[in-house]
Amino acid sequence: MKKIETLIGYLSLAGFLSTAALALFAVGNLIFMAVPDAAVAASSEPAAQELATAPDATEGEDPEEDTTFLDGFTNPPVRTAEEQSSIEARVAALTADVEGMDYERARYHPLHFPPQAAQASNEECLVCHQEIMTAKPLEQSPAGVSASDTMAWYQTLATYGGDQQTFHYRHLQSDYAKSVMNLQCTFCHKGNDPREESPDMIPGRDLFSAASTPEFTLRKMVNPSTTCLRCHGAFPYEHMDGVEANWPEARLDFEDEETPNGCLTCHGEYGFRTNRHNVTYLNAHEIEDLATASSDTCYGCHGGRQWYRISYPYPRHVWPDMDEETPDWAIDRPTQSDPEYQRPETAQSE
Ligand code: HEC
Ligand code: HEC
Ligand code: HEC
Ligand code: HEC
Ligand code: HEC
Repeated sequence: MKKIETLIGYLSLAGFLSTAALALFAVGNLIFMAVPDAAVAASSEPAAQELATAPDATEGEDPEEDTTFLDGFTNPPVRTAEEQSSIEARVAALTADVEGMDYERARYHPLHFPPQAAQASNEECLVCHQEIMTAKPLEQSPAGVSASDTMAWYQTLATYGGDQQTFHYRHLQSDYAKSVMNLQCTFCHKGNDPREESPDMIPGRDLFSAASTPEFTLRKMVNPSTTCLRCHGAFPYEHMDGVEANWPEARLDFEDEETPNGCLTCHGEYGFRTNRHNVTYLNAHEIEDLATASSDTCYGCHGGRQWYRISYPYPRHVWPDMDEETPDWAIDRPTQSDPEYQRPETAQSE
């Protein structure tokens, strides 16, 4: 029965998600896994959603609780009043500009391309692209299957709340997305040639001069391997001494009522790779805070919503008590996050 639900979930996923996201799935060697029992059991707990809607309410509730580890992680700083008013001024100017602007001019607006794209705020893009925030998936597939009667396998994560939604909603608007992430349009959209959709033809740049890791891949608007893969790769347990199987199976040995997050057995205070998530597009504090309730928070971005057979080659930051010897798989790994997403201050206290 569960398998059937999974299959229906897949069909409806195919039916309801934007063709855009699907194009990426095809490229990404999508694997459909059977719904793991443990994940199903976990899905009956609505706790994650409640936590997600009240990110601050969980802090300091229990005076007995030692929050030193949590406090070591911070979210990216909010905008300063200056930054905010500069964005408001740009939005106002753009809004005035758009009045009577013809389609081609809007379509090739310099905000779409480097260098302006790198500085663009979501508000500026949304002057012209409100539809991104209001689009809704079909309630029923063309074949008559209702979205509310089906379940996609990623909906079995305890962190999932609400109905199936559009791709943009799930990354910019859902309570959960807003609590764990801080995504900008330009995190994914780094320029595009609307005519050829080739990274070698970005307006304002020499032809055929795209970088070896281009801003987007041919006929796509994004580069999946530098965006989606970060949070939708496989669970890299082959790099984890002591984890012998994928998480739905492995977690059975690590978790019980007292220990709802088995990842933290090894990745908690005094654990491995504790210097993590110190990037502008993640809310590092919120992630660790929510993760105290369930490993689905961690697993969600590290295997639980897996669209790819491979996992992202994460940078390997130095952590306290790190072994001096580098394992073979990590020899070519960077030791810092991508410069464009680095935060000056550290998210993990020493
Ligand atoms: C997490 C990555 C991501 C973020 C963040 C994101 N997008 Fe997208 N967007 C995509 C992908 C993927 C597609 C489909 C691309 C394709 O077909 O190749 C897309 C498609 C679009 C399209 C084409 C129309 C459509 O619905 O397919 C527009 C317009 C767009 N995005 C605007 C925006 C704006 C404006 C923002 C910020 C408010 C934004 N996007 C944020 C990944 C993202
Ligand atoms: C002045 C209005 C305007 C602004 C500002 C603007 N866009 Fe667009 N954008 C357009 C128009 C018009 C199109 C063409 C839409 C179509 O043909 O359906 C377009 C197309 C796109 C597409 C789809 C390209 C394709 O090949 O189909 C994406 C993705 C996109 N914009 C993202 C963004 C992002 C991200 C920003 C902010 C950095 C942004 N836009 C700012 C007007 C604008
Ligand atoms: C920074 C992490 C991150 C990145 C990058 C990212 N995602 Fe996600 N994605 C998430 C999270 C978290 C959720 C769950 C959101 C929720 O439960 O509301 C999600 C949910 C989804 C879903 C489920 C949608 C639904 O209907 O519920 C799809 C499909 C998806 N992502 C595809 C993509 C694709 C394609 C890309 C690249 C263009 C991408 N994601 C990039 C974190 C990410
Ligand atoms: C039995 C201990 C253990 C458990 C349980 C465990 N991990 Fe790990 N994990 C490790 C070790 C050891 C490493 C590798 C450390 C190093 O870089 O040398 C690692 C590495 C990682 C990496 C980086 C992989 C890479 O390729 O860079 C991620 C991401 C990760 N773990 C996430 C998780 C998540 C999420 C969970 C729970 C769903 C989890 N781990 C459970 C021990 C564990
Ligand atoms: C919203 C998605 C998301 C969630 C939730 C999440 N991670 Fe990550 N994780 C990422 C991304 C993206 C990176 C890469 C960040 C970078 O580029 O530095 C990462 C990096 C890591 C690394 C590599 C650290 C390093 O830089 O050496 C480890 C280990 C890890 N995560 C474990 C965890 C654990 C444990 C949890 C739960 C407490 C968790 N993650 C929750 C997205 C997520």
